[in-house]
Amino acid sequence: MADSLYERLGGSEGINRIASDALDNHLANPRIKSRYEHLDNLEAVRKGAANFFISATGGPDVYEGKNMIETHKGMNIDEAEFMAVVDDILDSLDKNSIAQREQEEVLFALYSLRREIVGV
Ligand code: HEM
Repeated sequence: MADSLYERLGGSEGINRIASDALDNHLANPRIKSRYEHLDNLEAVRKGAANFFISATGGPDVYEGKNMIETHKGMNIDEAEFMAVVDDILDSLDKNSIAQREQEEVLFALYSLRREIVGV
């Protein structure tokens, strides 16, 4: 059987790096940085985002946060913000030398979550 996406993204170590770089991108992205820069639990969000990815890609079941609807409910997130987050994550995959095939799988997984995040 083919390796899980989790393994092909570099396991927990690789995904922690990717998620952390993505959050750094968000903090530098004028379209969305105001969503994150004031958070007093930023390091917990960094860890939570990595754990969500680890669990969602076939790694160990380490995510203990709320589901995506509950997490983003009432934030009034629009399509442009959603695209900005996706772009930041694709950029962090590039930075971490993740190949096109894996990038496509991540993109599909992210896009599938759109209805649980935009306008909920
Ligand atoms: C597919 C896209 C997205 C995914 C997979 C995602 C995933 C997550 C996860 C896993 C958490 C952490 C939950 C926890 O540890 O408890 C989180 C928190 C957060 N997300 Fe997203 N997110 C996405 C899109 C967005 C967008 C577009 C925005 C707004 C620009 C956004 C804003 C936030 C904020 C502000 C938090 C922190 C909430 C808090 O703890 O106060 N997210 N997200």
